[in-house]
Amino acid sequence: MRERELIRAALDARKNSRAPYSKYNVGAALLCSDETIVKGANIENASYGATICAERVAFFSAVSSGKSGFVAIAITGGPEGEQDVLSDMAYPCGICRQVMREFVDPVSFKVIVARSEDDFEQYTLEELLPKSFGPDNLGQ
Ligand code: THU
Repeated sequence: MRERELIRAALDARKNSRAPYSKYNVGAALLCSDETIVKGANIENASYGATICAERVAFFSAVSSGKSGFVAIAITGGPEGEQDVLSDMAYPCGICRQVMREFVDPVSFKVIVARSEDDFEQYTLEELLPKSFGPDNLGQ
């Protein structure tokens, strides 16, 4: 797997984060089965609930481009001003875990959470969202 390349792409995506309220910038990079990488960054809104996380931006961008198979996502998040080597591990929020669950096989899909290209943790979605509810519950 292309962990370092994916983390590099997530760090690049983070540069496009718009987070004037939290001042917490997140970048995500989604590796698709067609071997392309789709990026996303968090985009905040003055009506806070309208904010969208980096992971969902990446997934919705990919899905709305017609992509359907996904291998892994890298997530990089930390306070504004930090670059390339972050102080935080930005684990995906609950809503993003559920959104991922809609589009991937939880047993094989990898979630990489990184502070830098050299400092990362890797989980399956099943580890981060055990006993989940998904499309199969509705006969899909
Ligand atoms: N955020 C993400 O982009 N992904 C997550 O999984 C956690 C939180 C964003 C949302 C908001 O813009 C900022 O981080 C602080 O919550």
